Amino acid sequence: MDGGSQLSTQINSIKARRIWDSRGRPTVEVDVLLNNGSSGRGVAPAGASRGINEAVDLRDGGKRFGGLDVTNALSKIRDEISSALVGLDALDQQTIDNTLIQLDGTDNKSNLGGNNTVATSMAVLRAAAASSNLPLWQYLSNDKPTRLPLPEVQIFGGGAHAGRRVDVQDFMIMPIGAETFSHAMEMVSNVYASAGELLSRKGPLYGVADEGGYWPNFDSNEDALDMLTKAIALAGYTNGEVMISLDIAASEFHQNGNYELGLENRTYDTSQWIDLMGRWLDTYPIISIEDPIDELDHAGMSEFTQRFGKRVQIIGDDYLVTSSARVKAAQKINACNAVLLKPNQVGTISETRDAFHAAVKNDWGTIVSARSGETEDTFIADLSVGWNAGQLKVGSFTRSERLAKWNQILRIEDMLGADAIFAGWDAMPKAIRK
Ligand code: PGA
Ligand code: ZN
Repeated sequence: MDGGSQLSTQINSIKARRIWDSRGRPTVEVDVLLNNGSSGRGVAPAGASRGINEAVDLRDGGKRFGGLDVTNALSKIRDEISSALVGLDALDQQTIDNTLIQLDGTDNKSNLGGNNTVATSMAVLRAAAASSNLPLWQYLSNDKPTRLPLPEVQIFGGGAHAGRRVDVQDFMIMPIGAETFSHAMEMVSNVYASAGELLSRKGPLYGVADEGGYWPNFDSNEDALDMLTKAIALAGYTNGEVMISLDIAASEFHQNGNYELGLENRTYDTSQWIDLMGRWLDTYPIISIEDPIDELDHAGMSEFTQRFGKRVQIIGDDYLVTSSARVKAAQKINACNAVLLKPNQVGTISETRDAFHAAVKNDWGTIVSARSGETEDTFIADLSVGWNAGQLKVGSFTRSERLAKWNQILRIEDMLGADAIFAGWDAMPKAIRK
């Protein structure tokens, strides 16, 4: 019966529960059940160095778990969200997400909570893929050609993720010369091991940062860059094979109009700060730099991009907060040439896709990204392949909430067999592509 098949992909019920993230904090998990018995799950991740324009994480406040509990927040899913979505067709993601956006009625999801809306939006998408009997990445790619992403992998963690011992938040590598995704992972493993070897010679480690990278006792940001460059060489790779990527997360140490580097106890004004990063670009094999300028400084981001946008990928994370409107506004003033895509920054999959499309339209780089608070969920790995985003950033090469994502791409590579294509250099913004 025709009408029967339509009805079968309607949402039958929605369940919400509290689970725990990789920092041991509460987070939102949602299960969506369709009339045909298919189901899908979504889990909200959580950031620590959050952009001020991000979708709001709804937390209970009060004394429990430092105010971070979501027990009360979940009632929004059980009541309002369930009432609005039950009966809608899970295959129509746009209508699902529009319904969430309208029901919320704010421009930062502060009513329903971005954590609630994103987990629900993800769960519906997963249920739709399940009812089509396809893995998520394949459902999303819809038979269009796709590529396995170029990974961006943290070796040293700093900033808000490591007690602010180092100002720069992420010192990462990109195995841009790899032939395949599995080859890229081998290169990462070798560099991670050689960085560990260098550190054990140097002296005390403070520990492991929130995303699994080493958290060492560096004397300066340059000290970290020197060691990362050495680790790449010690592992036997050239500059063309493995390059450096930095997430500066500059808003975290931008104070009173200046950049205050705690490690060196020095203050830079914006133009001195841009000059300093220019010297880093001249000295080290850096291919990508994220949030180099304070998130509110449009002119600074534009100036940085004028100067360096033809030689390095410039990613907006806190600056663009996965918003298509912000991506378009940045393009008008020539700020950034790439966007970080974090579904929970904006609150729904459809809005994340809009930001992705706005970036692709202008030949920008697009990087699907995890948060510093994650779970075993592998949704974003599938998303990066399904959308052919070209790049994936999930943190380091230790801790299973990180490896779950890298390993998921290996499984997809295995499934694709001879058809697997690794994005490599082609994933870079057109302006800097080789
Ligand atoms: P966050 O950090 O998840 O703590 O915001 C990740 C990033 O800045 O890219
Ligand atoms: Zn960032």
